[in-house]
Amino acid sequence: MSGAAERRATRSRFDRGARAVGYRPLDLIGRGGMAEVWLSDAIFEDGEVERVALKRIRPGLESDVFLSMFEDEVRLGRYLVHPNLVRMLDATHVDGARSMVMELVEGDSLKGLVDRTRAGSPVLSLGLSLYVMRELAKGLSYAHGLVDETGETLGIVHRDVSPHNVLLGREGQVKLADFGLSDSRTNRTVREPHMVGGKFGYLAPEVVKQKPSDHRVDVFAMGIVLWETLVGRRLFHHEDDRETLFKVMRCEVPRLAEVGVEAPEVVQRLLDGLLEPDPDARIPDASTAAREIQRAIDAVSEPVGPQQVAEVVELHLLGMGGFVDGSARRIRDSESRELDPHGRRTSIPDLDEAERSRPSLTG
Ligand SMILES: Nc1ncnc2c1ncn2[C@@H]1O[C@H](COP(=O)(O)OP(=O)(O)O)[C@@H](O)[C@H]1O
Ligand SMILES: [Mg+2]
Repeated sequence: MSGAAERRATRSRFDRGARAVGYRPLDLIGRGGMAEVWLSDAIFEDGEVERVALKRIRPGLESDVFLSMFEDEVRLGRYLVHPNLVRMLDATHVDGARSMVMELVEGDSLKGLVDRTRAGSPVLSLGLSLYVMRELAKGLSYAHGLVDETGETLGIVHRDVSPHNVLLGREGQVKLADFGLSDSRTNRTVREPHMVGGKFGYLAPEVVKQKPSDHRVDVFAMGIVLWETLVGRRLFHHEDDRETLFKVMRCEVPRLAEVGVEAPEVVQRLLDGLLEPDPDARIPDASTAAREIQRAIDAVSEPVGPQQVAEVVELHLLGMGGFVDGSARRIRDSESRELDPHGRRTSIPDLDEAERSRPSLTG
């Protein structure tokens, strides 16, 4: 812990307004549908270096549309400054590739931790799972509420809230990453109607039904992330995309008691409120969710905070999950379908047609 405390005490040169004169990619630490993330050195004028994360489009996928989406992400990144959101530090070219420089979260994604769940022994305790969700809710609430210089809402919806995009750091940080598929008034990429980004298993029912959707899709996704963190397995997932979409539409959520997870009733009510299929009946926004999560944390009465997150992440890293400074131990490929470089989003299959062919899909 003393190492973590020392690092916390050291403010980043970026915080003091310094600009890096160059970047040196060191090790691939993450890969998503469109981008890859490199552990890198930022080099300053006096020769000092600082570790950062550098995101760029995967080689071979640099289409006009992807480049335009990447610029959207960079433009939005300038607005997103909150302890629960991965912060953008710079945007530049590195080895000729347009790159986004981010604060480095040394640790692992929530997915990395949840994947380590063994029957009956989740990596994150009930209280700590709730704490992580509360931090996530705070980050989302901030993003949803952001306004521009004139006070007009930016209309931000993340649209890709999933365990892959929640990063847990060895200093106890909980940070939402990857606004690469988000809606925002600052976006300039032209979107096709009826197209959808994000992983199918984390979509909200109204999106699958191709109805208008708003920030409440992120609230629903928080419910999926919480359920999966507590239970240790996927809620809506099938190897066939259309089956996954049916699962989302049916929205059948096993109660915690049914799947052997002991929790106070307030936790079940929280899940019910987040995973309500009708957006008008759902917990209305992320800040309300944060308050309700706090009520659940109070009911669980377990000490939770950055220190407990740091301890769990440190233990996880000792078990060779995630990565520590300088050595990527496992490159995490997100399950994002590779996006079509010619169109921002993937079309949702026609479900009527899928319904007709369903018997051949199952089994
Ligand atoms: N700032 C960061 N610090 C450490 N790891 C990161 C950081 N940003 C992203 N990663 C890792 O890289 C992966 C992919 O990054 P992400 O921004 O989600 O790209 P994509 O848009 O391709 O999904 C993440 O799931 C995570 O494992
Ligand atoms: Mg991602």
